[in-house]
Amino acid sequence: MTKEQFERNDGKGESMDVLQIARPVAAATSDAEVTDNPTVLALKDLSVFYGDFRAVRGVTVDVRDNEITAMIGPSGCGKSTVLRSINRMNDLIPGARVEGDLKFHGVDLYDAKVDPVEVRRRIGMVFQKPNPFPKSIFDNITYGPKIAGVPKSEFEAIVEKSLRRAALWDEVKDRLDESALGMSGGQQQRLCIARAIATSPDVLLMDEPCSALDPIATGMIEDLMQEIKSRYTIVIVTHNMQQAARVSDRTAFFTAEADSENDRRTGVLVEYDRTERIFSNPADIRTENYVTGRFG
Ligand SMILES: Nc1ncnc2c1ncn2[C@@H]1O[C@H](COP(=O)(O)OP(=O)(O)O)[C@@H](O)[C@H]1O
Ligand SMILES: [Mg+2]
Repeated sequence: MTKEQFERNDGKGESMDVLQIARPVAAATSDAEVTDNPTVLALKDLSVFYGDFRAVRGVTVDVRDNEITAMIGPSGCGKSTVLRSINRMNDLIPGARVEGDLKFHGVDLYDAKVDPVEVRRRIGMVFQKPNPFPKSIFDNITYGPKIAGVPKSEFEAIVEKSLRRAALWDEVKDRLDESALGMSGGQQQRLCIARAIATSPDVLLMDEPCSALDPIATGMIEDLMQEIKSRYTIVIVTHNMQQAARVSDRTAFFTAEADSENDRRTGVLVEYDRTERIFSNPADIRTENYVTGRFG
């Protein structure tokens, strides 16, 4: 990727190989008031298995461009499992497999022609516990670009741009050569966001990104998400309902129920809608019980 490509590629898909497809145009809606953003990720009746165990089923969700989509629900209902299936991180777990449809800009993410490494570049991930590499701040950011073969001469620009976007530049610009492990937890998590951004992804997946952070650092991450959503599509798993209500445009509510096929509990998508609707007037009684605190 040249510097020009990187500059142009503001999460807008300067794509490669089979993932190279035209960005879809927003579908016209019948009631002309709200035009939905184009769908970036289309999950259709997705199930994820670990061996014989179906961890989650019935997941039908359209994740839309430049929106924040939240996944909420009690522990064990399959939120992380679904999130990891989106960038094929589950591939790394022996026995894990998906059934159903998972399309990224219309391309089947599990097609044999799709390179999982390229998927993970286009769909970046940030985890619950900040996990910077035991390297300098600079080297953390350039890790992905280096693997992708970006010339060294472009590193400085990439580091500055990624750190600026992650609202971290001013705090660390004078100590880029210092170890990332010397940063505070909140800074480390913003560094992980900067590291994900450095490979010019379209999508950022975040699995409970604030659960190890104090309220101030949490607020900074939430503000950052709002700032960058115009460039990226964000999917966040959170066990914090207030956080979902504060930051997200749409919310998917999952729960776990007894599976007819075995005696374990399987996660299931109960309802997916605009966040406002999920928290004020949900269609399913299970959602209402959860968001009003009567369950979970
Ligand atoms: N690597 C794994 N191997 C086998 N089972 C797993 C694995 N990861 C998660 N599970 C199971 O899948 C279900 C969903 O887990 P998870 O996706 O972590 O839920 P959540 O993120 O909503 O708490 C749980 O029953 C969990 O025990
Ligand atoms: Mg989880």
